[in-house]
Amino acid sequence: MRGAAIVVARVRRVRPVSTDTHIPKCGDERLRMTRALRHAFPPSLRRGLYEAIFRRRDIRSFLPDPVPDEALARVLVAAHHAASVGFTQPWDFVIVRDLERRREVHRVFTEERRRNADQFAGKRRDQFLSFKLEGILDAPLNLLVTCEPERFGPAVLGKTSIRDVEIYSTCLAVGNLWLAARAEGLGVGWVSILRNDALAAIFSLPPKVIPIAYLCIGQVVEFPDRPLLESAAWAARLPPKSLLHFDSWEGTGSADDRRLADLVQSAEIWKSVLAGDAD
Ligand SMILES: Cc1cc2nc3c(=O)[nH]c(=O)nc-3n(C[C@H](O)[C@H](O)[C@H](O)COP(=O)(O)O)c2cc1C
Repeated sequence: MRGAAIVVARVRRVRPVSTDTHIPKCGDERLRMTRALRHAFPPSLRRGLYEAIFRRRDIRSFLPDPVPDEALARVLVAAHHAASVGFTQPWDFVIVRDLERRREVHRVFTEERRRNADQFAGKRRDQFLSFKLEGILDAPLNLLVTCEPERFGPAVLGKTSIRDVEIYSTCLAVGNLWLAARAEGLGVGWVSILRNDALAAIFSLPPKVIPIAYLCIGQVVEFPDRPLLESAAWAARLPPKSLLHFDSWEGTGSADDRRLADLVQSAEIWKSVLAGDAD
């Protein structure tokens, strides 16, 4: 089953769609306008993007097969094309193949995992300890994505009182990288059970450079349909409707707004994207 189709199936399972209340009629003006968006990608490209989004997973188990350089190069360029505040492009990418450095990172992970486990008690702690939460040594490749906030500073177009905008930008680069890797058939796992001071020392980062994402990258046996933490009943995806607010945190919105809230949980919105789906 394809990624977007899986999402649709799950929407159906979680909250059956009532055609009376949730689906706009064919003549509905707003739906018609959506279908006619002038600069929308052609169907196959649009679908490809959503497939990458829904079929991306955090991966912690890898095959030993190498990551082809060409695919890796495309993934890095995709990351580099992320939005960035003032077009500062504050990121760098440290490609880590050296096993000794990776062992050092793994030692830090082992210490931090213990500290993380101590945040939980009883069965929850046991479950935490049963999880594999990294692939630092199994993945053929590790990648440290960093941020240099003052690369073009201190004056930055788009930066006044919100201090972390370069960090946000770097996270967008990681998002691009993660999706592009999925499209290439490469798994990516983000390991944050680490310490930034240790990463800075292991990789000799200059003082102004901040570690943002320590990633394990490689080929995988499979991309699971669902997040591993969801399959293990550690956490569940929140209903998207519950995350919408209208005009203020407390705002319940108009009838149109409430219909939008129903739409985000409706399988109907995916019909046009999945048109021709053979699954
Ligand atoms: C900032 C960040 C840090 C994360 N750190 C870890 C980690 O240390 N270990 C781990 O196993 N997964 C880590 N994850 C992955 C999340 O657990 C995962 O994204 C989430 O469970 C949803 O699963 P999915 O990415 O497969 O959709 C991290 C993800 C993000 C965005």
